[in-house]
Amino acid sequence: GGASALAHDLTGRRVVISAGGTREPLDPVRYLGNRSSGKQGWALARVAAARGAEVVLVAANVELPAPFGVRVVHVGTAEELRAAVHAEATDADVVVMSAAVADFRPASVAEAKMKKDSAAEPDSVPLVRNPDILAELVAKRSPGQLVVGFAAETGDADADVLTHARAKLARKGCDLLVVNDVSGDLVFGQADNAVVVLAADGESTEIPRGPKDGVAAGIWTVVASRLTPRYS
Ligand code: CTP
Ligand code: CA
Repeated sequence: GGASALAHDLTGRRVVISAGGTREPLDPVRYLGNRSSGKQGWALARVAAARGAEVVLVAANVELPAPFGVRVVHVGTAEELRAAVHAEATDADVVVMSAAVADFRPASVAEAKMKKDSAAEPDSVPLVRNPDILAELVAKRSPGQLVVGFAAETGDADADVLTHARAKLARKGCDLLVVNDVSGDLVFGQADNAVVVLAADGESTEIPRGPKDGVAAGIWTVVASRLTPRYS
């Protein structure tokens, strides 16, 4: 047992990890974005590479330096992230969607910078739905490939965080869902994190609050336990 026995449990595995947050342009200088820093995705990539995996990181608007031994593909929008993830997911043993993908994008992108009319109140911005990349990955996954989703949830009047998360796992159809409780600002841009990993078969693994590398290590241990054994 112990860390040394786990050190190379991902040797020979190809993993694709999306990280960061997409930006959906309104005009040449403005976008709709979100607060995802990419740090948890970076930690996942670093730890997977250290444990022997061949890692591709599809990074949406993350400025961090490439983790050692990891190939980084930079993207901006949800459509760019979609194309890159699908291209890289062929032959992957594991695809982890830790990126925050904008649910909607502006219906059109202005070619020139939008100017304000000093007299009138602004128009509303029409939005259209972005494709659900995780659902697409689930629909096209190859035998033995594991698809892992992330969910940042808050409890509300309807249900608590884990109830929302279980419903999301069922809805998405992925193998594992990594759940973050984001009530109260403990996640975005922070060095520490805490998650629960829910599996489609009902298993759940709590990974206690700690540095994002430690949380990443816990997530990979759950993933590795579910990979189809290889006898080569
Ligand atoms: N995701 C995706 N494509 C989208 C939206 C989300 O691939 N267009 C992925 C995320 O990368 C994440 C998972 O789906 O792994 C869950 O994202 P989340 O935003 O929590 O789920 P939604 O179905 O968009 O639900 P919500 O209404 O709560 O935002
Ligand atoms: Ca969403």
